[in-house]
Amino acid sequence: MRNLKFITTIAATLLLSSTGAFAASAEKGRVAFGKNGCWQCHGWEGQGGNAGPRLARTQLPLEALTAFVRGTNGPMPPFSKKVLSDEDLADIYAFISAQPAPPDPKTIPLLAR
Ligand code: HEC
Repeated sequence: MRNLKFITTIAATLLLSSTGAFAASAEKGRVAFGKNGCWQCHGWEGQGGNAGPRLARTQLPLEALTAFVRGTNGPMPPFSKKVLSDEDLADIYAFISAQPAPPDPKTIPLLAR
């Protein structure tokens, strides 16, 4: 079991590092996303909810996302470094960036006419 987790982590890391941008961990990002309550407004998968917009596959660069999360003074509460470290935020970024694309609506029978 531990080995499986280890292999999965390596595989995820290789996958992410092969796409270039992230040294961060999507797996740790999922945990940080839960622990810091992002899911309450943005949904467990970052798919968006009643209270917050969709974050999955964000087009924002990490710097812009970090600036927003640290400095927002609108409907979303800001998260300072004391509450959420840069490392955790980079992991969260890896997590939301790694979400799969939504399926083509044509492949969903209920939506086909
Ligand atoms: C209390 C609800 C709430 C929580 C908790 C919350 N957010 Fe948000 N978030 C929002 C709302 C509402 C917006 C839209 C705000 C705006 O446009 O000013 C937003 C916007 C964002 C955006 C900008 C999205 C874009 O494309 O412009 C990011 C990034 C983001 N949130 C990340 C996070 C992260 C990461 C966490 C957890 C650390 C988090 N949020 C927790 C409500 C929340």
